[in-house]
Amino acid sequence: MDFKLKVAEMIKASTTIELEVEAIASLIEVPKHKAHGDYAFPCFVLAKTLKKAPQMIAMELSGEIKGELIESIEPVGPYLNFHLNREYVSKEILKMILAANEDYGKVALGNGEKITIDFSSPNIAKPFSMGHLRSTMIGNSLALIAEKCGYESVRINHIGDWGTQFGKLIVAFKNWGNEEKVQQNPIKELFTLYTLFHEKADEDVSLNDEARAWFKRLEDGDEEARRLWKWFRDESLKEFEKIYTLLGVHFSSNHGEAFYNDKMEPVIELLAKKNLLVTSDGAEVVELGELELPPCLIKKSDGATLYATRDLAAAMYRQSTYQFEKAFYVVGNEQTLHFKQVFAVLKKLGFDWANEMVHIPFGMILKDGKKMSTRKGKVVLLEEVLNETISSAKRIILEKNPSLENKDEVAELVGVGAVVFHDLKNFRMNDIEFSIDEMLKFEGETGPYVQYTHARACSILRKAGYRSGEGNFNGLNDDYSWQVVKQLQDFPAIIEKSFDQHDPSQIAKYVVNLSQAFNKFYGNVKILDDKENLNAKLSVVYCVTLVIKEGLRLLGISAPAEM
Ligand code: ARG
Repeated sequence: MDFKLKVAEMIKASTTIELEVEAIASLIEVPKHKAHGDYAFPCFVLAKTLKKAPQMIAMELSGEIKGELIESIEPVGPYLNFHLNREYVSKEILKMILAANEDYGKVALGNGEKITIDFSSPNIAKPFSMGHLRSTMIGNSLALIAEKCGYESVRINHIGDWGTQFGKLIVAFKNWGNEEKVQQNPIKELFTLYTLFHEKADEDVSLNDEARAWFKRLEDGDEEARRLWKWFRDESLKEFEKIYTLLGVHFSSNHGEAFYNDKMEPVIELLAKKNLLVTSDGAEVVELGELELPPCLIKKSDGATLYATRDLAAAMYRQSTYQFEKAFYVVGNEQTLHFKQVFAVLKKLGFDWANEMVHIPFGMILKDGKKMSTRKGKVVLLEEVLNETISSAKRIILEKNPSLENKDEVAELVGVGAVVFHDLKNFRMNDIEFSIDEMLKFEGETGPYVQYTHARACSILRKAGYRSGEGNFNGLNDDYSWQVVKQLQDFPAIIEKSFDQHDPSQIAKYVVNLSQAFNKFYGNVKILDDKENLNAKLSVVYCVTLVIKEGLRLLGISAPAEM
């Protein structure tokens, strides 16, 4: 139900020009000022072909175009301004949304093809950083949006569970570790050990050799090294799982870097077979000079493989396992070069599918203008942050709605939703300032504001005993419901745009705008007191709950019916 297209059809029917309907539609503008109507068509684009002044064309066309869709047409200079018939159009839009119900907004871009989404991907024995949190939230939202657009998303947590740091960790644990302590608080304790290692190694460099030796034992499959590694990994994953549960995020695969240990040799052989490997300072590299990129390091002089080697193996594994149509990597800005190199090497290997791989970078989370660090002393533990927002949300709820029944449950949805919304409402490349006070405001562009609007709309429906599908939708022609209904109509296009641009912030901004339009409607139109058009007004309210709830869901946020 594209009214712009319908208006374009009417214009087409009234002129002799050879423009396609779609081309006419793409010329139609939405006037900045509401007084200028809903659509404006710039007649100067027809002037040349029709050999007439644009003002003249606007005049003539205004007399010719008619239809139930149109309330009035005004020629204003070279423009033709269209005022739609609000009652008719509103009715059509509401009917369409109610028929689709929860499916409203689905876009048929894909047809079950798979998109792998590599996101979150924290490192074992290190705290879950703010960067990993951003990746988790953006990746989760992109997975949900992809599904809404007809794709199947394969959610991959490419855990950082391999590398020389495990040698260090084993040495630290064997020298200064305590099994019980690790069990009680794995990430904190392992990270303390890891930090301690660096402090001690500053004084005694031989520790580094010891660490290297242990990592070598690990790579060679030594039983003790393996057992410790697996234990560190399992304990860390249990901790990460708590965060994922709070955030409501799940994965299709937890294959981390270690999974590709036995899958790298074939990659190296293939590179050699295609004559792409060059020895440089004893290391094996793929030259990418023709792309103005530094060489991609494949194998170090001591034979050890690298992060990039594992990503090459992972990409090939994913293509053969999932036959992905697209592969997304939601990873911080600072790894842009790494992904350029990895994609370039895959293309050199002749894999066409490498053209469908996309690195989706994002900016940093700042605290007082500085990067939030997970390094020594300054660790911000994510679980603590989330617990803090949840308890703040609870305080606010106790104040606002002391009689609410499931306060704890709602506080969790609001506290977590606030953090997620604060992140996703910004275009991902922007750095964002981390401020719990900002996130939890019930006014302004926040998660709680949108959730609260949804709950308010739900409460109107409860009071009215509204049941969808009953009654007619006649009589809507006020300014306020019109602004709401027009926004409701935009939802599918917003979803499509956010998918195309890998940008959940479009949906976040949209639900804020919809909430604002709804709150104006609520403040200015007596929804329940005035029984006129009651069912039409309630249908608007219902569609708002449907679309806000679905919009928030696509961001990974729940919308409680009461708060
Ligand atoms: N573990 C890495 C880090 O924390 C991110 C991994 C991203 N995914 C990938 N396939 N390289 O920096």
